[in-house]
Amino acid sequence: MMSELSIYIHWPYCLSKCPYCDFNSHVSNKKIDQEEFLDLIEKEIDYHGKYIDDKKISSIFFGGGTPSLMYPNIIERILTHLSARSNIANDTEITMEANPTSVESQKFRDYSNTGINRISIGVQSLNNNDLKNLGRTHTAEMAIEAIGIAQKYFKSVSIDLIYARPGQDETAWKLELERALSLQTQHLSLYQLTIEPKTMYEKLYKSGKIKLPDETLSNELYQITEEICDKFSLRKYEISNFSKRGFECKHNLNYWNCGEWIGIGPGAHSRVREEKKHRRSLVNEYDPYNWGKRIRKFGHSLIQNSILTDEQNQDEYIVMSMRTRDGLNINKYENLGGKLNKDNINLLISNGYLSKDKTEENIKVTRKGSLVCDSIISSLAD
Ligand SMILES: C[S@@+](CC[C@H](N)C(=O)[O-])C[C@H]1O[C@@H](n2cnc3c(N)ncnc32)[C@H](O)[C@@H]1O
Ligand code: SF4
Repeated sequence: MMSELSIYIHWPYCLSKCPYCDFNSHVSNKKIDQEEFLDLIEKEIDYHGKYIDDKKISSIFFGGGTPSLMYPNIIERILTHLSARSNIANDTEITMEANPTSVESQKFRDYSNTGINRISIGVQSLNNNDLKNLGRTHTAEMAIEAIGIAQKYFKSVSIDLIYARPGQDETAWKLELERALSLQTQHLSLYQLTIEPKTMYEKLYKSGKIKLPDETLSNELYQITEEICDKFSLRKYEISNFSKRGFECKHNLNYWNCGEWIGIGPGAHSRVREEKKHRRSLVNEYDPYNWGKRIRKFGHSLIQNSILTDEQNQDEYIVMSMRTRDGLNINKYENLGGKLNKDNINLLISNGYLSKDKTEENIKVTRKGSLVCDSIISSLAD
């Protein structure tokens, strides 16, 4: 049987930098040479040939930055290059992140012709004043129009919203979320606003110019989110991700299940299995200019290439799996050589923070537990 692999392709450019964002995204002062970018991506794919060749590709994800700035023919040629080495089938999930400006949504049809079959639109908010404060260059109306266009061409449409924004109360979020859900997308990623280091928002936050909801309100907003999504039949399958049945993001599930993937592009990471037990971690050069330079010089951009220790594999599995609906599989964790702290787990179960599934093979965080997920995670292992 062919083993399965996911592929992530990173496009590191945006038209403007949003003040809250710490992703590897840059505003270039000159026009991006997309032919050159394609050439570098192809070279990096070739370098990873031994991991990619003859694999069945379960998912491909074009992320960013703003990958919807890429010309459709560049996407098409990347997919052609990949399919010459591996098996991209009808059931391969191929996602692109897109910003909802009118220029980008006019390209949705062309993207669907390249083989992209899932689109993830960064709506962020349906409140125009808040969109302005988030530094977004689109309005709520443009976002709604983009969703409508996407629904014509893609069977699977997802939207991202950021909540727990400055000044947002329960009523405002409830109305906004219900409006978003009424647009009937198959998937929603709902993130609480996080103040990331070295962003403009961090400066504003530290100087008191923006205030976030306190912990009680944040928790309430989180509970409301789950309840309202439930009412619209969107099930939570990860802390921030909700979908209709069968529309969970395969690509992200593979990360959370500690599968295998190859990351192509500046700053992208890979995890590959070598022998039965060993997982290798690869990290690409972060800075887009140096990334290109390294590929030209060495044929690859790797700045880190190491085998994960048993402890790193165990930690990664706990952190990733406990965020998901199915939770942590006890056998899988023990096969990684890990030892769970059964006393702590039983106490967390009796206090309603954790639960076991019917087969008693998995432990997962309850709704009450998800409010303190990080501290639960840190107390599970011996
Ligand atoms: C790679 S980013 C952006 C994709 C696309 N360029 C866009 O802006 O729509 C993926 C998502 O992360 C979320 N995000 C980014 N920074 C965040 C922050 N500081 N707090 C919460 N969510 C954030 C946004 O919802 C964003 O759509
Ligand atoms: S949120 Fe999206 S558009 Fe804004 S800077 Fe980050 S990656 Fe670029």
